[in-house]
Amino acid sequence: MIILGLETSCDETSASVIETTNINIKVLSNTIATSLPLHSKTGGIIPETAAREQLKFIIPVLEKSLSDAKMSENQIDAIAVTYGPGLIGSLLVGVETAKTLAFAWKKPLIPVNHLFGHIYANFIENPKIRFPAVALIVSGGHTDLVLIKDHGKIKWLGGTRDDAAGEAYDKIGRLLNLPYPAGPIIEQLAKQGDTKAYTFPRPMIGSKDFDFSFSGLKASVAREVATIKNLDDKKIADICACTQEAIIGVLVRKTLKAVKKYKVKSILLGGGVAANEKLREQFELEIRNLELEISLFVPEKSLCTDNGAMIAAAAFFNYEPVDWKKISANPELYFD
Ligand code: KG4
Ligand code: ZN
Repeated sequence: MIILGLETSCDETSASVIETTNINIKVLSNTIATSLPLHSKTGGIIPETAAREQLKFIIPVLEKSLSDAKMSENQIDAIAVTYGPGLIGSLLVGVETAKTLAFAWKKPLIPVNHLFGHIYANFIENPKIRFPAVALIVSGGHTDLVLIKDHGKIKWLGGTRDDAAGEAYDKIGRLLNLPYPAGPIIEQLAKQGDTKAYTFPRPMIGSKDFDFSFSGLKASVAREVATIKNLDDKKIADICACTQEAIIGVLVRKTLKAVKKYKVKSILLGGGVAANEKLREQFELEIRNLELEISLFVPEKSLCTDNGAMIAAAAFFNYEPVDWKKISANPELYFD
């Protein structure tokens, strides 16, 4: 089966063609355009700018993904599109494009939850992941922990009460005058820093639920930065190391709590923060220490951030076409 996946929920415009054989997936093309450089200048995403750029990119990206895959419209079996959550102006571009194509090309259309997409990025390289699994979705907009009993049987366990994990990286980066998005830069700078230099809080690390909170960490770093007269490279590296230690510490602890409670066989990571190597190492270390028989899955970097291939993969494993007339963008869409 050949599926065209469209993803336009935020600042990336992506179209991908995947080919499925039994449950194996081959990515034939994965074209991604991003308006990130425009947002770097303003230090964060401006929704109107993101939507305008989506409109500019969508047709060239679609055409390139078809030509890279060497596919014409009559070879496509189905179309998948992200219909939420995300920025309404950005989502509308993908959803309306997909509806138009479904009507004009007479193809089935599968609306996909963006968060399912991040989970299913893992199944592109590993289609036989064992259930039950927990997935930790960590990006600039989301921090969610979910239990997956089987394909499509996803239960939300908890999420952030304030800032998302990526947002915490980005906001703390701004306090340190680092460019946006700060996550990858903090990861690099942290390598030269001392993780014992500062004691930053790990909010909600011991709470009974599976929720997260990162705004207290940001406030604590802000207070610390305000007391420093000369914020030199060494101090910045130390703050990066301690910030990262706090964020990753909470993410790993809460995920492992869910692992033990639900006796899961697999841990799946997804979203931009999943590209962080320290996060992966920490998970591997804790899994070894606990002597748990668990497999950790992390998509390759280009599949961690927003892309059309993960949307097409989610549609494949949850193949439920909907009449295009009944599909509309839903910025508030969540689990359940
Ligand atoms: O999934 P994504 O590309 O976009 C959405 O937010 O949906 O995630 C972007 C977020 C940003 O907050 C960025 O700082 C963070 O992911 N990020 C990282 C790393 N790479 C990206 N955070 C920590 N370490 C990284 N290596
Ligand atoms: Zn995303």
